[in-house]
Amino acid sequence: MEISLAQIERDFFGSQPKVFCEIVESGGEVAGFAIWFLNYSTWQGKHGIYLEDLFVKPQFRGQGLGKALLQRLAQICTENGYGRFQWWVLDWNEPAIEFYKSFGAIAMDTWTVYRVSDQPLQELAKKKPPLK
Ligand SMILES: CC(C)(COP(=O)(O)OP(=O)(O)OC[C@H]1O[C@@H](n2cnc3c(N)ncnc32)[C@H](O)[C@@H]1OP(=O)(O)O)[C@@H](O)C(=O)NCCC(=O)NCCS
Repeated sequence: MEISLAQIERDFFGSQPKVFCEIVESGGEVAGFAIWFLNYSTWQGKHGIYLEDLFVKPQFRGQGLGKALLQRLAQICTENGYGRFQWWVLDWNEPAIEFYKSFGAIAMDTWTVYRVSDQPLQELAKKKPPLK
């Protein structure tokens, strides 16, 4: 993990944050969190929520807290007219997949995630685009 406290302070607590965190507590203790930000669908003409991270501490699992976090994000979607609520899950994370399926989430099997980072990203950025 590369993220630092300074980066968290900058990105979550700066003047115009673009990434957000919902916290769930149990007995006065932070039990879990969901980190999210907005994306946009040109098909729908609407923003949506992208769930970046969901975590419930092991000792608090199985008590409905993970579901409560997702219910809160679903409410933010409906309250704001957002069209979709989505996320990625690693294909080996069977417990998380079963958890998501338990409330009707479906896998987008025909989509593949692409990424450019590190050296290829640097190389791509160096090429001058023929755009004005
Ligand atoms: C996945 C995770 C967030 C679930 O949180 P949780 O608080 O334990 O889940 P909940 O108690 O809210 O479970 C909600 C529902 O999902 C079901 N569920 C949870 N885990 C399940 C599992 N492994 N298999 C089947 N169903 C499961 C529960 O039975 C419950 O169903 P119900 O509402 O009908 O009773 C938690 O296990 C976690 O933090 N895992 C490690 C991090 C992780 O993998 N995050 C996801 C990355 S994509």
